[in-house]
Amino acid sequence: MEYSAHPSRYQQMKYRRCGKSGIRLPEISLGLWHNFGHVDRFDISRKLLLRAFDLGITHFDLANNYGPPPGTAEENFGRIMQNDFRPYRDEMIISTKAGYLMWPGPYGEWGSKKYLVSSLDQSLKRMKLDYVDIFYHHRPDPETPLEETMAALDLIVKQGKALYIGISNYPADLTHRAAAILKQMGTPCLIHQPSYSMFNRWVEEGLLEVLEEDGIGCITFSPLAQGLLTDRYLNSIPADSRVAKQTGFLSEDRVILMLPQIKLLNEIAAQRGQSLAQMAIAWLLKDKRVTSVLVGASSVAQLENNLGAMDNTRFNETELTAIESVLKK
Ligand SMILES: NC(=O)c1ccc[n+]([C@@H]2O[C@H](COP(=O)([O-])OP(=O)(O)OC[C@H]3O[C@@H](n4cnc5c(N)ncnc54)[C@H](OP(=O)(O)O)[C@@H]3O)[C@@H](O)[C@H]2O)c1
Repeated sequence: MEYSAHPSRYQQMKYRRCGKSGIRLPEISLGLWHNFGHVDRFDISRKLLLRAFDLGITHFDLANNYGPPPGTAEENFGRIMQNDFRPYRDEMIISTKAGYLMWPGPYGEWGSKKYLVSSLDQSLKRMKLDYVDIFYHHRPDPETPLEETMAALDLIVKQGKALYIGISNYPADLTHRAAAILKQMGTPCLIHQPSYSMFNRWVEEGLLEVLEEDGIGCITFSPLAQGLLTDRYLNSIPADSRVAKQTGFLSEDRVILMLPQIKLLNEIAAQRGQSLAQMAIAWLLKDKRVTSVLVGASSVAQLENNLGAMDNTRFNETELTAIESVLKK
């Protein structure tokens, strides 16, 4: 059936300014790492994207290698872009990335100008787009000079293939250096995409401060620790879960290790009247330096549940102390 976006789509969602830029991003964005490849059901992927947009999610995050197989999340997104989203292109912030292995040989990964420019050209074709809104360098490259990688990002913006650029998985000191180079070239770094959740707090050791100082936005990935910070694994490992799927990046060992903490956090969430997923997202949104929380979802019900997090992003001292004491266990 032909898609027509819901007229009330901007009524519930809240938007936050991304660093010191002109862009505002939804407090919750949707990522296409899992559940959007050729191994997944296209009808569910499409439903998820359309429902997300109807709920005010204007930002969709991709990467060259998302699938599996790599490239197929962009291909599927391109199909939906062409058939459903075309009239709404100007209402959307679409991002992609390059950095991980994408094709064989010396030019298919890391951070050379050769790789970044050709990878984005491929991504644009797959997604049936003339430009992306944000293009990221996906991970730091210890061998390519930072100046070359940043010059490639600057070139891409000047060519009109991306409106803004971002970096992902860069540690605090390298982020500060990258930001300085980019500023000098007249292409400020819009955004950083780090992992951040109650179970993974490395950004609190310097990165968040650097982002605030340098006026860079922050979109946090894997906020639910890939599903651990939800009720998904409380009683068993469901057959359709990321742990059970062969293509997932989450192990059963990790579930077993974290389960005692998950159960305790679930109790705190219940006392707040939230699902554990909602509390995990709200816990990130309580920090104003976080521009957007980048969730994944395998069903519309999960996505809708996650959006409920925005109803209560305040934590009192008792709740924060209780959470900290669980996380220290
Ligand atoms: N820059 C990078 O290096 C990088 C790396 C990783 C991810 N990312 C980005 O971040 C996005 C999100 O990552 P992620 O998928 O790991 O995020 P996540 O939000 O931590 O985990 C998503 C998974 O949690 C489960 N889930 C979500 N909502 C739920 C709910 N309400 N109740 C129960 N279970 C729920 C689902 O698992 P099931 O599938 O088992 O149902 C879902 O697939 C990616 O799509 C990508 O855009 C970026």
